[in-house]
Amino acid sequence: MPHTLPNGFLWGASTSAHQTEGGNTNSDWWSMEQASTGAGHIKEPSGDACDSYHRWREDMDLLAGLGFTDYRFSIEWARIEPAPGEFSRAALQHYRRMVEGALERGLRPMVTLHHFSNPRWFRWSAADAAEVFARYVRAAATVYGEGVEHVCTINEPNMIATMAGFIQLLEQGGALPEAGLPEPDHAVADVLVEAHGRAVQEVKSCAPHVRAGWSVANQVYQPLPGAEEVAAAYSRPREDIYLEAAAGDDWLGVQSYTRTRIGPDGPLPVPDGAPRTQTGWEFYPAALGQALRHTAALVPGVPLIVTENGIATADDAERVAYITGALSGMAQAMADGVDVRGYFHWSALDNYEWGSYAPTFGLIHVDRETFARTPKPSASWLGEIGRTRAVPEVTP
Ligand code: BGC
Repeated sequence: MPHTLPNGFLWGASTSAHQTEGGNTNSDWWSMEQASTGAGHIKEPSGDACDSYHRWREDMDLLAGLGFTDYRFSIEWARIEPAPGEFSRAALQHYRRMVEGALERGLRPMVTLHHFSNPRWFRWSAADAAEVFARYVRAAATVYGEGVEHVCTINEPNMIATMAGFIQLLEQGGALPEAGLPEPDHAVADVLVEAHGRAVQEVKSCAPHVRAGWSVANQVYQPLPGAEEVAAAYSRPREDIYLEAAAGDDWLGVQSYTRTRIGPDGPLPVPDGAPRTQTGWEFYPAALGQALRHTAALVPGVPLIVTENGIATADDAERVAYITGALSGMAQAMADGVDVRGYFHWSALDNYEWGSYAPTFGLIHVDRETFARTPKPSASWLGEIGRTRAVPEVTP
């Protein structure tokens, strides 16, 4: 029996501004890309990306035509506030046109206020970072004030703190651990939790109807027998504190791609011979159902939305197989009582994967020269599920 999605279930795809817009020259990521020699984790610059700053209408036409009812995109702080306290009306109006454009096409916009990139002048380590972020959130109310039901304050705060920890490590001449993630920057983590709280307050006071939340990267830490305590200690600063910070929120975003097994000494590498995706992650579609269950157990009573789930692959049939497994895990979690309100696939488009265009996560192929968009078979297949509301079942 296929699982039927409840009425009102959000069915969409996600993108982020820096990864798709192109020419995001006032952002810290653009500066890092220009400074990179290509030898480190940044292999190539984002450049024109998918040119979605100009072609967003095409993106939305395609998604709506494919059967999606929702679109999660981010607005770019670096464009909106090019200098501290100086706001660009033109940039705000651009994003307002996107919100209205989505609504005109029957797509409910979920607006992410911060997706990894910052204005060049901003640092999460600054003493007034949370306050400065709140000021931007207030200014952005002209974008989300009407017609937007869901606002995501900060995408993957746990990855932002991890990136900050990683940069410190590089500066000290250290190297990435063989498995798992580097130690997060705990001071940045505290600021992010504070910034989220203040942002939720700002959103609610500017637009009381908006449902505000944030999205956390779920790593699905799986302890080997006897390593339960090691896994719990590893998960706390990397994931659980961010989930718990969402306890009073309207919803919580679950983002899931793969799992991490934990042994007595910590994270283990992907087992030899296990299938991997283009990013080197283990092909493990069951992660989504497990991420939802872990999150629901930690933060009972907060509705969950899958704000990202996907696979980097050149083989679109593999993408369909991955999504089928992931949706099946989600449906089983829902049947067991986990309150899931929506699913957004990552990503709508093949886009800039933070340092490289090689991994292709998109439902829609983007020609790197002409920017022509071509939906892959997986796009029609996933959009059709939006129309029928029937999630195919997988026999485990
Ligand atoms: C991020 C996306 C990213 C995706 C795949 C998430 O960590 O929010 O920006 O492209 O995962 O790596």
